[in-house]
Amino acid sequence: MKTLVVIGQGYVGLPMALRAAEEGMSVVGLDTNAKVVDNLNAGVSHIDDISDDELKSGLKAGYLASTDASCIADADVVVVCVPTPLSADGGPDLRPVEAAAGAIGEHLTPGTLCILESTTYPGTTEEVFAPLVCRDQFKVGEDVNIAFSPERIDPGNEKFGVKNTPKVVGGITPECTRLAKEFYSQFIDTVVEAKGAKEAEMAKLLENTFRHVNIALVNEMVRFSDELDIDLWNAIDCAETKPFGFMAFRPGPGVGGHCIPVDPSYLSHRVKAKLGYAFRMVELAEEINDAAPNYVATRVWALLNQGRKSVNGAKVLLVGVTYKPNISDCRESPADPLAARLLAWGADVSYFDPFVPKWHPHGVDVVLESVEELYDTAEGADIVVLLQPHAVIDLSRLGTIATAILDTRGIMSGNSVEAL
Ligand SMILES: NC(=O)c1ccc[n+]([C@@H]2O[C@H](COP(=O)([O-])OP(=O)(O)OC[C@H]3O[C@@H](n4cnc5c(N)ncnc54)[C@H](O)[C@@H]3O)[C@@H](O)[C@H]2O)c1
Repeated sequence: MKTLVVIGQGYVGLPMALRAAEEGMSVVGLDTNAKVVDNLNAGVSHIDDISDDELKSGLKAGYLASTDASCIADADVVVVCVPTPLSADGGPDLRPVEAAAGAIGEHLTPGTLCILESTTYPGTTEEVFAPLVCRDQFKVGEDVNIAFSPERIDPGNEKFGVKNTPKVVGGITPECTRLAKEFYSQFIDTVVEAKGAKEAEMAKLLENTFRHVNIALVNEMVRFSDELDIDLWNAIDCAETKPFGFMAFRPGPGVGGHCIPVDPSYLSHRVKAKLGYAFRMVELAEEINDAAPNYVATRVWALLNQGRKSVNGAKVLLVGVTYKPNISDCRESPADPLAARLLAWGADVSYFDPFVPKWHPHGVDVVLESVEELYDTAEGADIVVLLQPHAVIDLSRLGTIATAILDTRGIMSGNSVEAL
């Protein structure tokens, strides 16, 4: 039986570790956060997509959480899923990856397969991860095998999970690639071989840059469409009927989460640092998407103005403050800069979000509590702004009771509803 150690038990590492345990592997989920580890071993999940029951079945099947890195010495495979946030200079903060690689290096035994899954710039696996793992004692491809495999998990997605989302693998040597493919094939339906680690790293950044740029495209178009009195939402619906060569993206309040607003910066930072020039598509997309919450604020201002009201003192109800629907993750949520702008203009901001009982918008000196009763509060608000359409929200009811609604998702109907 294979022994697997998964370093980092967050949104990415925990589902992966449990999937492997379900397939009969003996799995240790390693994390530096002792509270997370204690909760996991007690059957309490901190990840939306993993219920306590799923975690408990994992614990029965061979999963165990730990803070003790010495388990790496007994592992056949070690997979690293630690965070890669942005540092102050806009590049990836590789300290968690370096710490995890260092822990592997300290306990590594020959024959281990080590796979980095954390999203990062092309070259990290070979230039940063491998040297810390090998520590001049082991040779890649001979004593240890090292590969990169991008994580594609889409939190809240009920159709695609760990098992049925194809996985790309790229090793430092062809043998590393082959072994990584063999490993993932045990519990993932389709595994795709990249030419090498750099190509696998680049594939992930291409996927997320593609989303970032296309969201920016429609977020820019929505502004001038409104001024030209063109319904962009309808135009997108029409364009989407083309069966080839078009993929629909829709405008919104801005991009959020740990991936789309962050990952493309790894690539632009790398291009600038290595080659000295800009990755202009990413810079422009960032500029447009970063400005989206402010644009929403100006539309709130314009709608209130139409009703002869000022933003200052207006009751503004934000609906859904997470970065996407049906999850509790608020990282980089566009609701934060929107709330900051509205509060700075003197608005009386409240919010409804069943996933976020308390909310401290970034950059603002207030902590808000979710209103308990959505529909009553909406009735008394001067304006309601739909940001994330969580499934529990009855949008048609909301559409009939609020005085004015700014629908940033283009999915509501009713006389008082205005799409972004
Ligand atoms: N969340 C997503 O939807 C998603 C999707 C695709 C890729 N990714 C990428 O996957 C990686 C992990 O993201 P995440 O969302 O799971 O992060 P997360 O913050 O949810 O979880 C990371 C976990 O790693 C632990 N950790 C940090 N440093 C550690 C160390 N040195 N040793 C052991 N544990 C350590 C933290 O305590 C935390 O529990 C990132 O690079 C991210 O960009 C995330």
